[in-house]
Amino acid sequence: MTPLPRVVSAETLDGLAEDDPRAMRSRGDLRRVHRIMGTCSILSRNLRAWSLPAAGPAALRVLELGAGDGSLMLRVAGALAGSWPRVELSLLDRQALVAPDTLRGYAGLGWTATPLRMDVLDWVAAGPAGAYGGDATRRWDLIVANLFLHHFQGRPLRELMLAVAERCDRFLACEPRRSRFALAASHLIGAIGANAVTREDAVLSVHAGFRDRELGALWPAGEGRWSTREGPAGAFSHCFSAARTGAA
Ligand SMILES: C[S@@+](CC[C@H](N)C(=O)[O-])C[C@H]1O[C@@H](n2cnc3c(N)ncnc32)[C@H](O)[C@@H]1O
Repeated sequence: MTPLPRVVSAETLDGLAEDDPRAMRSRGDLRRVHRIMGTCSILSRNLRAWSLPAAGPAALRVLELGAGDGSLMLRVAGALAGSWPRVELSLLDRQALVAPDTLRGYAGLGWTATPLRMDVLDWVAAGPAGAYGGDATRRWDLIVANLFLHHFQGRPLRELMLAVAERCDRFLACEPRRSRFALAASHLIGAIGANAVTREDAVLSVHAGFRDRELGALWPAGEGRWSTREGPAGAFSHCFSAARTGAA
């Protein structure tokens, strides 16, 4: 059977205002979809594989790109609690979606979370000095992207991957898997009560998803020495991870 071609289209949710009731409902659907996809387990399993010391002297600097309402990473933080160092987390998204309760949830786990409202393409264009509070010499310990890279293709995606590789020691991306099984499942998402926005975007996301070594092929091999892994995760996801040699 021929593989599905990658097709990136604008998703409906991205065109809706933060407080549009259809968008709010769709973000609630997404939280349930994550439970079905097992996203929290996939992310925490991949993050634990890096065996970071539970009690380091400095907080770990983590950036999530396209963080949405921050609720997924909060579940991950809960799963990692006790086995991870203190974390200073920045939640980058072009919409302001993180609720005060979510920030309190992070604080309760000992993580400091700060929403960072900006377009990721501006983050890319800002250069290293703009990427971490004006301090060009610092790198993020870890950058995470979940259901985010599939919004991009071509040059913007290549430049995004290059900026990530320049600015962190570890990177983990968990994206939709572009497979016929995932596509069939995305057409059934109405069965969990998902609204029209979610039903449409789920299908578009699979068409824009990744397979094989598509993300690794975009990772800049010349930017230092990296250990990378890529492949299917769970029934519907595709993960790419990279760690600078010595950082794993
Ligand atoms: C499918 S949601 C995923 C949210 C979260 N990562 C999760 O998995 O629950 C994609 C998010 O990316 C954000 N986004 C899309 N394009 C963006 C861009 N160019 N810059 C920053 N955020 C963007 C959207 O606002 C949305 O919150």
